[in-house]
Amino acid sequence: MPTILIIEDEAKLRRLLELNLGDDGFKTLPAGDAETGLKLLNSEPVHLVLTDLKLPGMSGLDFLHKAKEQNAQLPIVVMTAFGSVETAVEAMKAGASDYVLKPFSLAEIRIVVHKELDHSRLQEENRSLREALGQKYSHPNIVARSPKMQEVLATVERVAPTNSTVLLGGESGVGKDLIARVIHEKSRRASGPFVKINSTAIPENLLESELFGYEKGAFTGAATSKPGKFELADKGTLFLDEIGDVPPATQVKLLRVLQEREFERLGGTRTIKVDVRLLAATNRDLRAALEEGTFREDLYYRLNVVPINIPPLREHKEDIPALTELFVKKYAAGSGKKIESVSPAALERLTRFHWPGNVRELENVIERAVALSPGPVIQPGDIMIDDPAERTPARGSAGAGGEFLPEGMTLEQWEDEMIREAMRRAGGNKSQAARLLGLSRNALRYRLSKLGFAEEPES
Ligand SMILES: Nc1ncnc2c1ncn2[C@@H]1O[C@H](COP(=O)(O)OP(=O)(O)OP(=O)(O)O)[C@@H](O)[C@H]1O
Ligand SMILES: [Mg+2]
Repeated sequence: MPTILIIEDEAKLRRLLELNLGDDGFKTLPAGDAETGLKLLNSEPVHLVLTDLKLPGMSGLDFLHKAKEQNAQLPIVVMTAFGSVETAVEAMKAGASDYVLKPFSLAEIRIVVHKELDHSRLQEENRSLREALGQKYSHPNIVARSPKMQEVLATVERVAPTNSTVLLGGESGVGKDLIARVIHEKSRRASGPFVKINSTAIPENLLESELFGYEKGAFTGAATSKPGKFELADKGTLFLDEIGDVPPATQVKLLRVLQEREFERLGGTRTIKVDVRLLAATNRDLRAALEEGTFREDLYYRLNVVPINIPPLREHKEDIPALTELFVKKYAAGSGKKIESVSPAALERLTRFHWPGNVRELENVIERAVALSPGPVIQPGDIMIDDPAERTPARGSAGAGGEFLPEGMTLEQWEDEMIREAMRRAGGNKSQAARLLGLSRNALRYRLSKLGFAEEPES
């Protein structure tokens, strides 16, 4: 029975949490201030802490620091007043595993608590498994020598055989597609279909019919009926790529399918039941979308059953040599050229670079280097990257402090300018502009409407 330490100075709320979490089968330890909380932490085994940030005496943030010093693995969920998101952000930076904004519903607290406990149990299991196996997670198509990628593979091993929904996070090009396929391959559904749908690649008005299918006559042009991806993925896995870009109306429908595993085709009345495991991916922080109100909170918690965050390449540079080797082999074989290796100087350039486009960018750069290299060994000059660290400092106006806002411009004006520029560069295509800015399509639309851009249907 997991034990939850509840630190909350408001007696009523503390009691309410105690009662409700107690009903869920947890043992609870109540504390009215952080000092008492710390004492309890030292005397009792605690699996999770739920703490208010604003407390009499020691602050919740100080408590967080102290508790993390003692046990870095302990999941700590902070409660903070609506409107003080900065403190929540500060708490997340200090190692809190999640936060809830007051006033919250008990259902919300329950979901967060269960999620964090599941997550920490999984991590604990991973740790002991890894120790037992001596760091050995491998897969033929995946380079994962670094501890960070080992951790990703360890989680993949654990979740693949379950039916849990997995939310794959990570910047563009880190390997979310690759990992999604591996989860399917390693699942009991491996012999079933793996169906992928990318919400940014499909015009918004077609997304629902793609997902759920339609009956003949459901809309103009629906001359026949057609099954959607959910039906096609029956007994298999559905991979929803770029989930952050699913428009709000479709989010409601997705939530229903996730909860009830049933839906109707567009224009249809028959309820269809499916057995589908869902994997989702996003290359940006869905939390930001939650705060902007463009992504439904209930759907987020439904999806985020097991999060797997794939680190950016700059955080596991140890993998660059092996990745380089893999891609050199792949493209040399494809081009029929005899490329044997990469010179040490070239490898050094590759390792120093910060790879904003992650593994995909490395792959592209190697493909080009293989094509360009006149000899059997790839040289630094064959590598087409623009590394600011290699530039001579004399150029441009940037001094030691770097560039700053143009004279007299505020940050907000600068942002507006960047949004306009992105729209220009994208030739008015919102999806592409959103991509350039690292925003979801919904977030961009929200900002465009603030800028007074007319809402027009996308082609
Ligand atoms: N650890 C790895 N080992 C080998 N290849 C990798 C690894 N990570 C990524 N790749 C390769 O890099 C390329 C980009 O990966 P992938 O398409 O999975 O990225 P992604 O995270 O889905 O990107 P996006 O957010 O843009 O969709 C693919 O060709 C993939 O096979
Ligand atoms: Mg992808």
